[in-house]
Amino acid sequence: MTESFRVEPLSGDHDRSEFRSGSDALDRYFREQASQDIKRRIATCFVAVGVTSGDLAGYYTLTATGVALNALPPETAKKLPRYPVVPAASLGRLAVASHYQRQGLGGILLADALMRAARAELGIFAMVVDAKDEAAQRFYEHYGFTPLPGETRRLCLPIATVLQRWH
Ligand SMILES: CC(C)(COP(=O)(O)OP(=O)(O)OC[C@H]1O[C@@H](n2cnc3c(N)ncnc32)[C@H](O)[C@@H]1OP(=O)(O)O)[C@@H](O)C(=O)NCCC(=O)NCCS
Repeated sequence: MTESFRVEPLSGDHDRSEFRSGSDALDRYFREQASQDIKRRIATCFVAVGVTSGDLAGYYTLTATGVALNALPPETAKKLPRYPVVPAASLGRLAVASHYQRQGLGGILLADALMRAARAELGIFAMVVDAKDEAAQRFYEHYGFTPLPGETRRLCLPIATVLQRWH
């Protein structure tokens, strides 16, 4: 990929009308719902903007959530205190514009989301995602997420695992 990107919070300056990821639901959410969710503090939303092209090339949303301790993989849960629920960040939505897919931008957005969760001034044990299909699941597994036991498309990645990898 020749273009480089900056990742910044979604604002009224970003023109979302032409964004196409191949998922109508994710495109519609981005155009019609994301700003409302931000305003109501339901989610935050960050976008990748091409530094030279100015293209709006991808976005993701982040929301606070919790995961039941007994829903985590047993080898992860056994290292944690016996609280019924552990805090997590949910990557609610993630999409890359069709012409930028398979060039690593999804990975850049994922890394940005994980870094924001790691820096947040509240306890966040893991990032959780609901992969919308098999392809999305492959993508998350490529970057180290593991499926929660008994769940078809729910995956998680402990923030401490990410930090160990990055240091
Ligand atoms: C899923 C999505 C965000 C991935 O973004 P991306 O920028 O294309 O992903 P990357 O280039 O970082 O992919 C890294 C690796 O993930 C895996 N991967 C990515 N897309 C994949 C796909 N469609 N099928 C299988 N594996 C895939 C591959 O291993 C890929 O490495 P490779 O290209 O060297 O084979 C993007 O394809 C997208 O927006 N799709 C439509 C919306 C969507 O499905 N969002 C997920 C919501 S849960």
